[in-house]
Amino acid sequence: MSDPRIAIVGATGAVGHEFLTVLTERKFPLRSLKLLASERSAGKKMTFRGEELTVEALGDDSFHDVDVAFFSAGGGTSREFAPKAVKSDCVVIDNSSAFRMDDSVPLIVPEVNRAAIAGHQGILANPNCSTIILVLALQPLHAAAGLSSVVVSTYQAASGAGQRAMDELYASTRAVLDGKPVPAPDALAQSLAFNLFPQVDVFMDDGFTREEDKMLYEVRKIMDLPELRVDATCVRVPVARCHSESVAVSLKKELSVEGAQAAFAAAPGLELVDDPQALSYPMPSGYAGREEVGVGRVRSGRVFDPGLTFWLVGDQLKKGAALNAVQIAEAL
Ligand code: A2P
Repeated sequence: MSDPRIAIVGATGAVGHEFLTVLTERKFPLRSLKLLASERSAGKKMTFRGEELTVEALGDDSFHDVDVAFFSAGGGTSREFAPKAVKSDCVVIDNSSAFRMDDSVPLIVPEVNRAAIAGHQGILANPNCSTIILVLALQPLHAAAGLSSVVVSTYQAASGAGQRAMDELYASTRAVLDGKPVPAPDALAQSLAFNLFPQVDVFMDDGFTREEDKMLYEVRKIMDLPELRVDATCVRVPVARCHSESVAVSLKKELSVEGAQAAFAAAPGLELVDDPQALSYPMPSGYAGREEVGVGRVRSGRVFDPGLTFWLVGDQLKKGAALNAVQIAEAL
């Protein structure tokens, strides 16, 4: 493909903004960029590589002059418009959960299953942000010692729920500090000011949330491990940007802490930051805007034997969303 004509669907949202940053930072070669959002945003101006672009309302014929479209405007919009884009010979890289578990749609983290890209039929799915951060660390452990099960708790930033959720975190925090009534939550399930809550997405019949289901089924699909057990608890915390994860894995064979650290240090996309005596471990404050996912606090497990326990931090708007999608486009 010569330099492709690109579109971003959901350009005005939190992930949409991040796409503009990532395309610029990675000097992504493109012939044209079309910014699409809802009717509400039509006519709005956004700047890309020093040039002012006008946002257009998404419509049925938005894709006739587009080669690759990044979708990040929610599952409903993807379900309605991605097939229309494919009919216009446009390849869709979709950030929503609409197609992730569809057998005909590859679910890609390039560092883990790049080869699966070749099987696409017009749509490629970008995994859930917490899943992407997790599989980057699970893959080298699986290669070294075989995974048999995973227990993970997430500490997810407000911006994972979109721009409005991030605005809500700031407004409610300011209200508490000013001694004013805290506005009722709207984009988030609960108020997040000086709080956290163990709910990301809706609850399923078995008591897990849909986010926790995504972590189980998406990890299985990306790593091609249909039997892998993943027990997730997803928590929203009052952090603006970057998800953290506490992970315990049960392994098929012994792997020393030093062996795991070496595997992490050599793995693409990961950065080992593991010197607790020097107070050195990954934190959200150090990873906002970074491409790498930080891994640290690596230790022998006290429950799983053989097993390991460790800590991850990654920018969920970047590697967890826009960057991973752009890397898929680069691989294409
Ligand atoms: P808009 O800003 O016009 O509402 P976030 O996840 O940060 O909330 O962003 C969601 C993105 O998806 C925004 O760019 C939003 O556009 C866009 N969006 C939401 N609904 C639609 C729709 N029906 N058609 C096109 N874009 C949509």
